This record gives sequence, C-alpha cells and structure tokens, in this order.
Amino acid sequence: MKIAVLKERRPDETRVAASPETVKKMVDMGLGLTVESGAGDASSFSDEAYKQAGASIAKDAKAAASGADVVLKVLRPMIAGETQDEMSALSSGQCLICSMSALNEPEFVGAMMKAGVTGFALELVPRITRAQSMDILSSQANLAGYRAVLDGVAAFGRAFPMMMTAAGTIPPARVLVMGAGVAGLQAIATARRLGAVVSATDVRPAAKEQVESLGGTFVAVEDDEFKQAETAGGYAKEMSETYKAKQAALTAETIKKQDMVITTALIPGRPAPKLITEEMVKSMKPGAVIVDLAVEAGGNCELSEFGKVVTKHGVTLVGHANLPGRLAESASNLFSRNVLSFLGLLVDEETKGLKIDTEDEIIAGTLVTRDGKVVHENVKATETAPAKAKAGGAKKKAAPKKKAAASKPKAGEE
Ligand code: NAI
Repeated sequence: MKIAVLKERRPDETRVAASPETVKKMVDMGLGLTVESGAGDASSFSDEAYKQAGASIAKDAKAAASGADVVLKVLRPMIAGETQDEMSALSSGQCLICSMSALNEPEFVGAMMKAGVTGFALELVPRITRAQSMDILSSQANLAGYRAVLDGVAAFGRAFPMMMTAAGTIPPARVLVMGAGVAGLQAIATARRLGAVVSATDVRPAAKEQVESLGGTFVAVEDDEFKQAETAGGYAKEMSETYKAKQAALTAETIKKQDMVITTALIPGRPAPKLITEEMVKSMKPGAVIVDLAVEAGGNCELSEFGKVVTKHGVTLVGHANLPGRLAESASNLFSRNVLSFLGLLVDEETKGLKIDTEDEIIAGTLVTRDGKVVHENVKATETAPAKAKAGGAKKKAAPKKKAAASKPKAGEE
C-alpha cells in the first residue's frame, strides 16, 4: 500500500499531515511513503528528515500522488474555481484522508464524487473512547486553547500574575473563558499557570465540575434549560432566545471586570453564538483583550475580525486564523499521530493492503464518498436539508476566508 503526503497550499496553513516520526512508523508497518518536497518546511520538518525516515521525495503534488492508494492532507484539497486546483493531483480510486468539513462543503463533496475519490473526513471521527487517538478536533483544539492565552498575553500591556515588588504590588489579571470545551479547558489551565484569576462559562452542566477542577470559577445561568443543554454526543445545543437574554445579562455584568476574555463557544453545524456585543466591549477596561477562537465560524464577539488583531473602544480584539497552525510543529506532530492511528484501521494486517471495513463505526462515521457516490448518511442529509445548508452558508458569508478545519462540522449529533 502506497501513501502520499501532500503539501498544504492555503494561506496561513503551516501544518502537514505526516511527520518524520509517523512516516517512519508507517514505513515500519510495511507501507510505501512518498512526501511532496517542502511539505514539512513550515513545521520544521525537512525533506532530508523524511528521507531518513524512509520516504521518497516527489517534486510536486501530482508526482507524489501518482500511484498512491491513500493521499494524506491536513485540509481538503482546493478544487477547480478556487485559488488553485489541488484536487486534480488525485485520481479515481484513491483514498483521501483529511479534515474536509464534509457537512458544510457540498461542492467539495461533489468534486470527490466526480473524481471517484474515496473520502474519509477526519472531523467526523466519532467521539468514542476507541477513537480518542484519532480525534483531530481535540488535539488541535488543545493547542489552540493554549496558544490563545499566549496570543492574548502578547497583546496585553499589563502583567498576568500578581507581582509584589519594592515599587508596589501589581494585581493578578482577571480572565474569563467563554466555552469550556477542549480549547476552553486548556485556556483555563494555561491562564491559571500564568497566574491569572480565571472564571469560565458554558451552557453544558458537565463543564462546571471540569472548570472547578482546574481552579476556575464557574459563571453561568443555571436554569432548567441549562440542565438539558448537552446533546447525547456531548455537544452544546443552540439555546432559546430567553436563555440567550439571561446569559447576555450575566455576561454584561461579568465582562466589565475582566482584563481578558477568551471565547471558544461553538455549536456543531451552526454559526458561532454571538456572546459579546459592541456595548459589552465598550464597557470593558481600556487595555483589555478579547481573543476570539470562534472567529473562523463567524466569531463570538460582534467586533472581532477574521485573521486580524484590531483595537476598538480601547479593547484589543485578537482574531488570528488557524491558531493550531501558529504552533506548526506541535500541531503537525499531534495531527500526524491522529492520522497514523486512523490509518491503522485501513491496513489489512496480513496483506498490508487497503481494507475498508464499513462495519467499523469509526470507518462508517468518517467515510463520505465511495465509488462516485455519497455514502455518509449525515452528509446525504445536508444535500436535502435546505435549512442546514443555509446555516453552513451563513457561516461562509460571515467568514469568507475560513479554513475547512475551523468550520468544525462535528458528528452532527442531536
Ligand atoms: P465545541 O468546540 O463544539 O464548543 C466549545 C464549547 O463551547 C463547548 O463546551 C460548548 O458547550 C460551548 N458553548 C456552545 N455554545 C455556548 C454558549 N452559548 N455559551 C457558552 N458556551 C457555549 O466543543 P468541544 O471542545 O469539541 O467539546 C465538546 C464536548 O465533547 C465536551 O464535553 C468534551 O469534553 C467532549 N469531548 C469528548 C471526547 C471523547 O472522546 N469522548 C473527546 C473530545 C471532547
């Protein structure tokens, strides 16, 4: 079985889908590896390191993908009509494994069907214990949460920890984390390690204990709706207008006292909830910082701008694109291990050939297209559900330059 690793060509994308470490492991598994020249450059992995790991280096994407059974990428290939046509490097019968926003990208799914490509969407890996090592959403969100705090600190003109000096005492910074999922919990831990006083909010009751176990204070409207806000899949539901109004009032009160707010709130398949209004920004202290991790899905703050750091009403709004990519080497290392773990399901132990076992719930949960058809039930449903397609479209409009990974269409559970 031959595997090709292609270079990412989108602006801001610094990651690569296989590291020299995982390439070596794949070679040891008896697989043949070809890496496109320069694929690892932005992650500090040289062509030489891949060669030493046992891969051959191809001069371009077409040459790397030629003859491969499986093509690995971080983000879905761009298709004809986008900046570049990366999809043309792939040919019929090949498998593509990457983060592809399959629930929100019907044109891309159509292009895979047309090209006869078998597509596995890594963002759809079910969040079950057996699949934890394959969960790109968690591995990348962890790094994003950590990096968000560092980016916030870099834009902040005051110290984070309490400092007692001969010239007097500096109080610790107060940080509010909105959305205590994977990224939010890592942000809480990082801000605490830096000495800040941290509080956090979420609409899922399970988050309360997790926030408190990290030393944060939980701030939320804990009414009856809150008690049922978690889906069977562990995600947040869209809240009612009444809840949103109560939440907004609590946020307005809390936010005034904060030095930094880190927002990570997302609802799978929908635009990010707007939690911070312009009025709330105006009420914050001069020099305060908001880091909006949800900016690629439309943003949790009305004023944040995708890919930019801007100052409005004396508050700095940090809206960097692709936060995991700002830690390229670490993000690539973790993403590559997720991919390696997933690939293990597709390799026949005896023949070392490709095996697609659709009885396996991880395979069934991620397999989007096969033999020129859409085979994933939730992806099929998006083709026939105008309301859902509209939600995806709204996200696109809000953040035209968004990355596929960032739109985070998860398992689409209810
Ligand atoms: P996410 O990225 O979809 O959302 C981030 C956070 O925003 C979530 O905690 C969500 O509840 C919160 N949120 C949504 N709307 C909000 C609002 N209006 N106000 C405040 N907060 C809001 O979530 P993520 O990080 O992907 O995690 C979701 C769940 O999945 C968590 O319970 C996590 O522990 C669980 N999980 C389970 C895994 C497993 O293998 N079993 C692996 C990873 C995560």
